[in-house]
Amino acid sequence: MRISDDVLRSIKERCPIEETISRYVTLKPNGSRFTGLCPFHSEKTPSFTVFTDTQSFYCFGCGAGGDVITFVMREESLEYPEAVKLLADRAGVRLEHNEEEEKAMRLRSRVLAMNKEAARFFHDTLVSEAGKRGMDYLRARGLKKSTITHFGIGYAPDSWDALTNHLKSKGYSESEMIAGFLASKGKNGGCYDTFRDRVIFPIIDITGRVVAFGGRRVGDKDPRKYINSSNTPVYRKGQTVFALNFAKGADKLVLTEGYLDTVSLHEAGFTGAVATCGTAITSEQARLLARYFDEVTIAYDSDDAGRTATSKAIELFKPTGISINVLDYKGAKDPDEFIRRYGADAFGALLYDSGSYVDYRLELLKRDNDLTKPDGKVRFVNAAVELVAAEDSALKREVYASQVAELTGVDVKTVLGEIDRLRKREGARERKNEQRQRIRASFGSDDKANPEKRNNLRAARAEEEIVRCLFANPSAYDIIKAELTDSDFVTEFNRRIFDCIVGVVSDGKAPALADFNADFDPVREMSAITRIMLDADKEPFDAAALKKAISALKAEKGRLTRDNIKEMSPEELKAYISGLKKGGASSQKE
Ligand code: GTP
Ligand code: MN
Repeated sequence: MRISDDVLRSIKERCPIEETISRYVTLKPNGSRFTGLCPFHSEKTPSFTVFTDTQSFYCFGCGAGGDVITFVMREESLEYPEAVKLLADRAGVRLEHNEEEEKAMRLRSRVLAMNKEAARFFHDTLVSEAGKRGMDYLRARGLKKSTITHFGIGYAPDSWDALTNHLKSKGYSESEMIAGFLASKGKNGGCYDTFRDRVIFPIIDITGRVVAFGGRRVGDKDPRKYINSSNTPVYRKGQTVFALNFAKGADKLVLTEGYLDTVSLHEAGFTGAVATCGTAITSEQARLLARYFDEVTIAYDSDDAGRTATSKAIELFKPTGISINVLDYKGAKDPDEFIRRYGADAFGALLYDSGSYVDYRLELLKRDNDLTKPDGKVRFVNAAVELVAAEDSALKREVYASQVAELTGVDVKTVLGEIDRLRKREGARERKNEQRQRIRASFGSDDKANPEKRNNLRAARAEEEIVRCLFANPSAYDIIKAELTDSDFVTEFNRRIFDCIVGVVSDGKAPALADFNADFDPVREMSAITRIMLDADKEPFDAAALKKAISALKAEKGRLTRDNIKEMSPEELKAYISGLKKGGASSQKE
């Protein structure tokens, strides 16, 4: 969809990029720029840069770039119109919509209203006679009435049509029920209840809307222990965290694997418990949690699968800057069982004394290496040094270094020396990688947005110079127009950039990055465009340089065309010449 210029302009005025980005990234002022740790790759020294004068961002580490809309598209995984809508909503700008979007929005609000109705139906059923099976099950699992009410837990009766009939009586259509995952399509074309004979956990987003459901079987007819809503128009599984609506503002965030773990923890007073909804945690969920908490305690199941999942979660949390603890408990398979068996106090003692990530990893290393043997000691020290070197607090590094020294009998000064050496090397490596990335981008060997660049380097560079000049100086269009058209471009990507800028400029407007968002993908293409336009506004207009680029491009185009002609079959040649006669000639001559 095309969004009107007025809307885009109001968004840009009312959503300064530095303000929007600082909702997601901690930014430090640095002259007219801001810098911070890049949210799109993992780094320890900030190379993510926000330019207030051009209202753009660019990461000198990974090359991600764009304007405020590109940022929101990437960070919130939204399509262009949705990102515009989110920013417009935040800024209080009104959008007009086309029919298709109106339809999608109507469906979303219908599904949300239907979910609320379904949650009420499930809960009412649970507390009625028809819900006895569910209630008995939940009581047997040890849940109190007040917890059941607080979470709005419900019961889906063992019936094919209890919910669908209820929703029909409230005016919802089968296609709405299917879109919301509450009904499934049967072979005969009709539809039936998705959740049957299950206790139901409503999944509520941070703004309090019922977006999805998780259903645990009560009987054992169905081999699937849980059925979880899949993605729907109102639900993205990988971006939603169960119980975060209740956990926001709690003292300690505890991440569990299951709904029941989370519910039991809340009941026991640990109101910062949350869970992912039947999938492994994603980086979006990690970032979402890091927005509300400074610290996370991972309390996954205590089996091997849980340990593997813990290591994966740690990797996803690391780039968010949140401090990571791992709850190391024994004697129960999950937090729910632990609390039932040993009580809330025992869990609290564990939680408030839970090992940090480094402690946890050191424990594992100790277990895996025989410290009574020299080679075991060496392996342990090397691995421990690497682990501790990643710790940013000097005090903590010293504490861990003395632990390592004590465990192995190696002098603490030696351990600290090794840690410092590694930190210096890591810093140097990160800087070198950034440099390499910049060089590679300028040579095009790594340009994913413009794959033709590597084989047409000279032409692509001239094209970049031209679009960059036109972007910063719309008045240069007169010079350019007289000399070349888009058919003189060699690489398709730069031709599209050129066409886009020409469209804006010939309307008498000054181009901005925002003009590209609708037609270029937010990851590779917007990043490449931002790189080309970096500092474009800082250079004074240089007509001589522009003319040089234009003739360089035409020379390259001519050379490539000649090469092509040599390889043309007679038919191709004939077609080519008749094309020239039809008027493409001016762009082909040198
Ligand atoms: P209880 O067995 O009732 O204590 O639940 P739990 O939460 O402890 O279950 P478990 O540790 O087996 O699973 C953790 C989470 O994985 C659950 O909360 C579900 O979200 C998900 N899960 C478990 N079994 C299934 C399944 O059969 N299908 C799907 N889609 N998800 C499941
Ligand atoms: Mn369990």
